[in-house]
Amino acid sequence: MQTEDPAPMARIIFLAAVVFQFLWTAAAAFDFESACSTIAIQAASIENTTIFFADLVPAGTTLTFPDQDPSCSGTSSSQVALVDMCRVALNVTTSHRSGITMEAWLPRNWTGRFLSTGNGGLAGCIQYVDLAYTSAQGFATVGANNGHNGTGGSLFFNNPDVLADFVYRSVHTNAVVGKEIARMFYGTPHRTSYYIGCSTGGRQGFKMVQDFPQDFDGVVAGSPAVNFNDLTSWQAHFHNILGVASSPTFMTTDQWTGLVHDSILEQCDTIDGVADGIIEDPNLCDYKPEELICDSPTNRSNCLTPAQATAVRQVFSPLYNTHGELMFPRQQPGSENPAIVSSLYGGDLFAVSEDWFRFVVFNPTFNLNTLNLQDYQIAQDLNPFNIATFNGDLSSFQSRGGKVITYHGQADMLISPADTEFYYQHVSSTMGLPPSKLDDFLRFFRIGGMSHCATGPGAWEIGQTLAGASGNLTAETLDPDRNVLTTVVRWVEEGIAPDTILGTKYVNDTTSLGVEFSRRHCRYPTRNVYDRKGDSNLPSSWSCK
Ligand SMILES: *[C@@H]1O[C@H](CO)[C@@H](O)[C@H](O)[C@H]1NC(C)=O
Ligand SMILES: *[C@@H]1O[C@H](CO)[C@@H](O)[C@H](O)[C@H]1NC(C)=O
Ligand SMILES: *[C@@H]1O[C@H](CO)[C@@H](O)[C@H](O)[C@H]1NC(C)=O
Ligand SMILES: *[C@@H]1O[C@H](CO)[C@@H](O)[C@H](O)[C@H]1NC(C)=O
Ligand SMILES: *[C@@H]1O[C@H](CO)[C@@H](O)[C@H](O)[C@H]1NC(C)=O
Ligand SMILES: *[C@@H]1O[C@H](CO)[C@@H](O)[C@H](O)[C@H]1NC(C)=O
Ligand SMILES: *[C@@H]1O[C@H](CO)[C@@H](O)[C@H](O)[C@H]1NC(C)=O
Repeated sequence: MQTEDPAPMARIIFLAAVVFQFLWTAAAAFDFESACSTIAIQAASIENTTIFFADLVPAGTTLTFPDQDPSCSGTSSSQVALVDMCRVALNVTTSHRSGITMEAWLPRNWTGRFLSTGNGGLAGCIQYVDLAYTSAQGFATVGANNGHNGTGGSLFFNNPDVLADFVYRSVHTNAVVGKEIARMFYGTPHRTSYYIGCSTGGRQGFKMVQDFPQDFDGVVAGSPAVNFNDLTSWQAHFHNILGVASSPTFMTTDQWTGLVHDSILEQCDTIDGVADGIIEDPNLCDYKPEELICDSPTNRSNCLTPAQATAVRQVFSPLYNTHGELMFPRQQPGSENPAIVSSLYGGDLFAVSEDWFRFVVFNPTFNLNTLNLQDYQIAQDLNPFNIATFNGDLSSFQSRGGKVITYHGQADMLISPADTEFYYQHVSSTMGLPPSKLDDFLRFFRIGGMSHCATGPGAWEIGQTLAGASGNLTAETLDPDRNVLTTVVRWVEEGIAPDTILGTKYVNDTTSLGVEFSRRHCRYPTRNVYDRKGDSNLPSSWSCK
């Protein structure tokens, strides 16, 4: 075709010059070093903030956190900065008797994306490793202390404002203030905003989706602690079932992770087609602990008493309230994780439940040994600031174009993965939408053989954390087909939604030992089934049915 432009070449040169000029101006306009030296003064103008410091941190620096509450050291005691960034620390007043401490990690090489990280348990601990992971991917990243310092819940007592921060206000405030700091720092607002968290962090993500739908364009909510009140009661109720160590229904950690776990695998491991220690869909496992009952009352080795077998059956049964309504779905068989068994089935009340009942539902002197269904009902009715996080109407988030990815390890014993199915079905019935329609904005991936947020016998590395990306950001670990964070970015920015998430299992969970197997995790309500031919270590030997 003949061009009508008499001087196309000159025009191209002119356009190229304009583009070059624009790029050059944009680059010149952002001076990372000077932005980091002035951000403390600029950000001080944000309402209710006090800036502690703004430090330029070169890639490779090992940061330590001496100001952090010592109980938080399990979350992060030190962290290597993976890229050049400006680290801004501040607090924000949220009421006359509460406030949050937060940090913004602003990378030199910014993608225009904003991201907020979450927390875990009842903890008021900034998860520095998540800040490192996400800032290294070019997000302007923030993390907050959830309104209190330390892992316990004692500061909730007699201070509903600290509780409000924990329930919703810390994440929301962190996002609002963080976005403002990013705008001041880079001289331009973010283009897209994201959230990633697991456990309590997953609940915080859904809280924002439910109540602050404008805060994030894309949310990754892992193993979410939704249905929070009943979750906390459910975690406590194992103590009712199993009793203290001297009780006739009690079982040792070895009995749980050996005897019981092995017999569960014997009965259920091959339902998905492969004996690999992974029960892809534990809903299909109708475990019968009675098979473990000792054949003679005098032989107590490698077997259970009838009372213990009854207790095991109760552990794997749903929790109903006094009216017979479901409070919390069942623990899933196969989830008996050696690192977790003793905190939940070890003869003491689970620590989170203990603090919740002492400092929120009742008082520090309440006798927790008598906790019962009536108390669980009181907790459910109290539901402070709607911490249940069980609102099934996500239409505001849907209509503003938001996308949420949730995932849940099918071998998670701290928060039964059946709770996420319970919530998903609640969203489906509340909104009157079948899974094919929910797929437009909410996708739920069931991760076979993943324990609580990480680890387990399954292909649990799905980019959910730095560890879940092999601790090494490469084209492979950041591939959206195998990374829940980059996949939500692709969904938001390019409209490409994930069908499956490809998980990786390294030999002995050690990257240098190489990949043991990979498996695609299916989108609920489909389940993963081995096709009975081909190498079960290859993703292509499985399909979502
Ligand atoms: C919480 O810890 C931060 C340091 O991480 C400190 O600045 C702040 O004062 C602490 N807040 C409270 C209420 O102790
Ligand atoms: C600032 O703090 C006050 C309480 O001191 C609170 O009432 C107000 O909402 C806060 N402002 C913002 C923007 O958060
Ligand atoms: C924020 O920090 C300043 C300076 O340390 C302190 O005076 C103020 O009480 C803190 N505010 C909150 C809400 O923690
Ligand atoms: C900056 O990030 C982009 C991707 O967002 C990447 O392609 C580029 O290599 C990065 N540059 C540096 C200097 O790290
Ligand atoms: C005790 O019972 C278990 C389970 O039935 C059985 O495997 C074991 O051989 C028995 N031991 C003896 C000494 O009879
Ligand atoms: C990170 O991955 C790259 C590319 O696969 C590899 O060459 C490098 O050795 C890895 N680094 C670490 C610390 O594992
Ligand atoms: C597997 O990891 C454990 C704990 O990290 C270690 O003790 C063991 O030696 C490792 N085994 C192999 C085969 O590398």
